Amino acid sequence: MTGLVQVREGITDLLVPEGYSKRGPGTKTGEVFYNRQMEFGRDISVIVGREVLREGQRILDGLAATGARGLRMANECGVRADFELNDRDLRAAVLMKENAELNSLGHVTIHCRDLRALLAEEQFDYVDIDPFGSPVDFVDSAVQSCRNGGVLGFAATDTAPLYGSYSKTSLRRYGALSERSPFGHETGLRILVGFAVREAAKHDRGVEPLLCYHADHYFRCYVRIVNGAARADVALRSLGYTGFDRKTLDRWMDDGRRNDADAGPVWLGPLMSKDLIRSLKATGDLGTAQRCSKMIDSWKDEMGMPPLFYLMDELAKKTKLSPPKLGDFIPYLNGRGARASRTHFDPKGLKTDLSAKELIKEYRKFATRKK
Ligand SMILES: C[S@@+](CC[C@H](N)C(=O)[O-])C[C@H]1O[C@@H](n2cnc3c(N)ncnc32)[C@H](O)[C@@H]1O
Repeated sequence: MTGLVQVREGITDLLVPEGYSKRGPGTKTGEVFYNRQMEFGRDISVIVGREVLREGQRILDGLAATGARGLRMANECGVRADFELNDRDLRAAVLMKENAELNSLGHVTIHCRDLRALLAEEQFDYVDIDPFGSPVDFVDSAVQSCRNGGVLGFAATDTAPLYGSYSKTSLRRYGALSERSPFGHETGLRILVGFAVREAAKHDRGVEPLLCYHADHYFRCYVRIVNGAARADVALRSLGYTGFDRKTLDRWMDDGRRNDADAGPVWLGPLMSKDLIRSLKATGDLGTAQRCSKMIDSWKDEMGMPPLFYLMDELAKKTKLSPPKLGDFIPYLNGRGARASRTHFDPKGLKTDLSAKELIKEYRKFATRKK
């Protein structure tokens, strides 16, 4: 293939189109897709893969493009398994084969199929879905194709409907109400997880979140798929709605649909598994190791914290007091006996067990304290 350049991610070399996207979400340029900014997300896939993949499993990167994600997992997770890459674009299939050979991964199987057809015919222990925009076209077939106890990794870059900017689109696509709010990134992620739960429940299968997060312009989820109507029912019981009172900044999640609900169905449960998060390691061979390490720390910090974070800006607007440093405010709250942490959703966000009223009171006290 011509018009290619060689780049390196982790310890994997990749031939990618010369005009590849270096920043931003990346566009469909008519060439095989490659976005350098997603290296961070692929590093996280490697880190997660090292913990969840097992010897001898069948692992599919379903929308592989250059093969960047699947080949990196094959090369860097340290697991001897059957890695398979798929893309319906023939140019992508040719390029991922070249990339496999470049890394002495000639044993990786390449498919050039519509992913839904492949998923309808084959069973895998891990399926990755990394689409342009929404994963809705693939989640149903991916859930059916996952073996019992298998893992589904999927991304969504159609963040505007999920954040609440296009609520009608969210309703059509995800069957969920969405509404803009200061904590819209979290609601959006919870809508996405809730969608996967409902897709799996149709097939008597339960979904257990391993790691679901937001970064840059996308959401990414890793969930375990487990067989059984009872497991599906358990997951469905963790669906509900969120609401937000713009006057009081009060926010709530509830397993019933209240008249003042803004968004839902959403997933009410934990977005990550404590055991998995504790085991994740940002090793020095990863190109974005520092960012991965900070992100893992942030996930650890907010594990077990109440949902629906606050933004310092909304507290500042409400009190008309300019925001103190979050790095000072959080220890202050902890010192006052409250639970508070940063959140990975937003650098200006905090999670706390205080009610909105209590938090505003503490904010006032802290912002007007004599130094
Ligand atoms: C966003 S790119 C994947 C990026 C890649 N995972 C990475 O990390 O660089 C999405 C890919 O999905 C492929 N695709 C879209 N719809 C498909 C379908 N129904 N079946 C198979 N491939 C499809 C496109 O050709 C494109 O290469």
